[in-house]
Amino acid sequence: MEYGYFDDENREYVITNPKTPYPWINYLGNEDFFSLTSNTGGGYTFYKDAKFRRLTRYRYNNIPADNGGKYFYIKDGDTIWSPGWKPVKTELDHYECRHGMSYTKFKGSKNGIEAEVLQFIPLGFWGEIQKVSLKNSSSDKKKIKLFSFIEWCLWNAEDDMTNFQRNFSTGEVEVKDSVIYHKTEFKERRNHYAFYSVNSPITGYDTDRETFVGLYNGLDAPDAVFEGQSRNSIAHGWSPIASHYLEIELKPGEDKEFIFMLGYVEVEKDKKWESKSIINKQPAHDMISSYDTADKVNRAFEDLRAYWDNLLGKISIESADPRLDRMVNIWNQYQCMVTFNMSRSASFFESGIGRGMGFRDSNQDLIGFVHQIPERARERIYDIASTQFEDGSCYHQYQPLTKKGNAAVGGNFNDDPLWLILSTTAYIKETGDFSLLDEMVPFDNDSSRAKSHFEHLKASFYHVVHNLGPHKLPLIGRADWNDCLNLNCFSEDPNESFQTTENQKGGTAESLMIAGLFVVYGKEYVKLCIRIGKEDEAKEAQVHVDAMIEAVKQHGWDGDWYLRAYDYFGNKVGSSENEEGKIFIESQGWCTMAEIGKEEGMVEKSLNAVKKYLDCDYGIVLNYPAFTKYYIEYGEISTYPAGYKENGGIFCHNNPWIMIGETMLGRGDQAYDYYTKIAPSFLEELSELHKVEPYVYCQMIAGKEAHRPGEAKNSWLSGTASWNFYAITQYILGIRAEYDGLAINPCIPASWDGFKMKRVFRDVTYNINVKNPEHISKGIKQILVNGQPVNSNIVPILEKGKEHSVEVLMG
Ligand code: BGC
Ligand code: NOJ
Repeated sequence: MEYGYFDDENREYVITNPKTPYPWINYLGNEDFFSLTSNTGGGYTFYKDAKFRRLTRYRYNNIPADNGGKYFYIKDGDTIWSPGWKPVKTELDHYECRHGMSYTKFKGSKNGIEAEVLQFIPLGFWGEIQKVSLKNSSSDKKKIKLFSFIEWCLWNAEDDMTNFQRNFSTGEVEVKDSVIYHKTEFKERRNHYAFYSVNSPITGYDTDRETFVGLYNGLDAPDAVFEGQSRNSIAHGWSPIASHYLEIELKPGEDKEFIFMLGYVEVEKDKKWESKSIINKQPAHDMISSYDTADKVNRAFEDLRAYWDNLLGKISIESADPRLDRMVNIWNQYQCMVTFNMSRSASFFESGIGRGMGFRDSNQDLIGFVHQIPERARERIYDIASTQFEDGSCYHQYQPLTKKGNAAVGGNFNDDPLWLILSTTAYIKETGDFSLLDEMVPFDNDSSRAKSHFEHLKASFYHVVHNLGPHKLPLIGRADWNDCLNLNCFSEDPNESFQTTENQKGGTAESLMIAGLFVVYGKEYVKLCIRIGKEDEAKEAQVHVDAMIEAVKQHGWDGDWYLRAYDYFGNKVGSSENEEGKIFIESQGWCTMAEIGKEEGMVEKSLNAVKKYLDCDYGIVLNYPAFTKYYIEYGEISTYPAGYKENGGIFCHNNPWIMIGETMLGRGDQAYDYYTKIAPSFLEELSELHKVEPYVYCQMIAGKEAHRPGEAKNSWLSGTASWNFYAITQYILGIRAEYDGLAINPCIPASWDGFKMKRVFRDVTYNINVKNPEHISKGIKQILVNGQPVNSNIVPILEKGKEHSVEVLMG
């Protein structure tokens, strides 16, 4: 069953039934200021950091699931309704929620009143606009009452949810004209406040939650709205809110527009006050006046659309399947921007409190984003690398507001450093900007300990070399990519976090996943060294890469697939000898991408084993058989019920590793089959089972051993976004940025006649037309660039600012 449809022309997903199987959300904002909004208006807003600068309050795991957000109430006679259906849930004559590129538009109508709410954050702006359009489509004159509603969060989202003895007494507001100001803690150490305004006179307002809602009501039935009268309450402590009350008259056919703005202001220390206890409102007024008419707002909205036209114009395809086109051209790229912005911090599954930017996560996110805004990718690489230590190790996470490593989480995840080689080489290949390597980048955020970025890459590479175990394979540390394979943890205390506990120091558990990763990015490192004239370094590094390949062949092969690890005691993990967890996806992915033992048939055997043991109807599961009991020597992985998350779930992030592995063997049909199994637009009809949004990837789909195979969770913030984009565009469609041009090497289903891709690369537009008359999966007979044959499959960097045709004949 479907709950809406794709409107590809407008790049929107249109939800037509508000009762989606889970809240289906969207993200507003692209730089500093962000909102999450569900298809019924739920969600929250923050400036830069969902933990430290949260503007509006949200209660996770609420009943019902998505309760609380930015709401409007319309009182038309005795009928009370909301344009986004919630919170009132009055049956609407028409409901539609259009999630688009950084905006959401609600359309609701009832009894001859049509309401449209357009929500977005203008580019470069620290505020969200809600343009509310009301139209009377009846033949009677209408007198309606409109109430707005948001609930302030007292800035620090964690404190806000825990420290009630304090924060029930701290809340402070001011109201002046049509603007409600939230100034909790402003007189002490904060130099910021927030405001909620409307560009029209108001009849009343409320700022105290209990006065507006009533202590015994829910947001579906606030006293003030039901009585049709706000109380002009001023909050002193308790829970401050902002609600405007407007009386609106509409003649038949008449429409009116109102601009609401939720803004964030920072004020210099000596300019905080207008007079005693009265805040300096000038910065807010400046913001309000920049968008106080519908014309100004419409222009900003057009700018936002143009911004996305440009971003999405850099890679676009035409294939025979609209479901593929809409993933590649629109939604997958859009999700890559969102994961770039959020890392794993704020979604409807990530509370915005627990995690900042992840070292490995943010590096991986860049491979789906770097072509969009390379300058921002560069800055991000710098920020990430600044949280590394001289020995190559690094903080696992950092806070976006401070950009400082998060000491509470710590480090020692031994895959982390290597991802820096991936992001850096992806950036240089996309841009040709080698100067990044010379940039002086701090260690541990200490600029007196800065070294060139190249030295950071070197430290990453040698961190593995210096941390090898008994089989000369990489020590796993606290965990590798699989955060739940905690081989040195041995936790018996339920109050310990698997993520931060390493009980047995000096453990020698080794990871085959890191081994494969090291070979892939070790080779990249060698290639880079050669490219920049560091021949000696390249030679030395190659020795270590070769040694790792040997170590994998000797100690990492189980007969039909690659082992996953050696545990603390030196026992095999992911072996046919094991009772459960005989085979794991990660080492098959990385060792096949690294092509370790390809000549000996290892790659093929490994991928055949993946197909046989791990593949199922809904994707490739992480391990098989899933663990059914707790293995203290394995840690968190064995705490999940079979078929979920890292224990036999389809962890969508790693499925593309297998897709890429398949392309190494030229098996285009298999690679694409895996792609379509988890690509959300291909799952739209399954929405009832799948539950989460059909326009974005989720982290996990329940695997074949789960209670409900196919049910998905944790949509939006996952490395799944960038890896799938990378796999489909660079390995299946096979168009890849390289240092000296665009490499072309498709590996597609044999049934395809071909496809087209428009690729803007280093300011050059390539119109690539791939033809497949012989119906093969891989292999190129001829490439014509502007009609002339080229001898290599790397199309050089042609004249900038121009369009060039690239005709590719497979065969
Ligand atoms: C989850 C992992 C996640 C880790 C870090 C674990 O509970 O299963 O997917 O990477 O937490 O937050
Ligand atoms: C999600 C985390 O964000 C990521 O860092 C980790 O690699 C995967 N889970 C697998 O555990």
